Amino acid sequence: MMTLLISGCSEKILNAKGYPGQSEVTSEVKADTHNKDAKHSNDQMQNNVEQAKQSVANTSDENMKRHTTDKNQDGIQVVFNPESIPVLVNKQNKLPENYKPADLVYTDIPFVSDVTNEKRKMRRVAAAAVNQLFAGAKADGISLLAVSAYRSHETQTTLFNSYVNRDGYEKARTYSALPGTSEHETGLAIDVTSGNGKCAAENCFGGTPEAIWLEQHAAEYGFIIRYPQGKESITGYQYEPWHLRYVGKELALEITSKGITLEEYYNEV
Ligand code: DAL
Ligand code: ZN
Repeated sequence: MMTLLISGCSEKILNAKGYPGQSEVTSEVKADTHNKDAKHSNDQMQNNVEQAKQSVANTSDENMKRHTTDKNQDGIQVVFNPESIPVLVNKQNKLPENYKPADLVYTDIPFVSDVTNEKRKMRRVAAAAVNQLFAGAKADGISLLAVSAYRSHETQTTLFNSYVNRDGYEKARTYSALPGTSEHETGLAIDVTSGNGKCAAENCFGGTPEAIWLEQHAAEYGFIIRYPQGKESITGYQYEPWHLRYVGKELALEITSKGITLEEYYNEV
């Protein structure tokens, strides 16, 4: 079933310069979050962003060839740095086969009912950040519920296939990621909804006080709204006001303040 689905897909490949991820970017972002009480000066934050950009800019096409595998037969490139916090996973860039994040931990936030244990996990740094985001929302009088965080490759496969059965392949591709290309498999993404549990991963979540709060504050906790309205042709997905992606605080603030997507960020550096 999966082979059939994937072979039906021929995607455009991003310029190799668009690939993120040097080790110093990751360690910087990790260090920032682990030391959440440390006060970063504005200068230091600016340095971090510049460093992250420089790392990507220094990655020449030749270097990239050494770090990426060949295109798969489905025409999708395999990312060389799946564990990098700002990793770009999308319709053109998939995770290596059998990739599973090594540091998944349980989040400490409320979920809608009937959610499996697996989906309550995120990578350690993202889990700590989402715990803080939920606390920050609560302090502002905003009640959130989580819907789905980490999804294994098998879970994403089952989910994607169920959407194909329901809506057909082409339609499913506009809102669900092919297994191997879902950010949920990185342990860095989470879907959230309002505290009443309504509109979970549905369009009616858009425009709610909770969605507006996320637009205004998610970046302060290191998250971006990954599939914004009006950027469908760039991200390849319909607007998902509920899908948060952890990229680290500096990057999230830059991406959000510029009103760009992760794809645009990597194409402009
Ligand atoms: N809904 C997003 C695109 C996913 O399936 O990962
Ligand atoms: Zn999602």
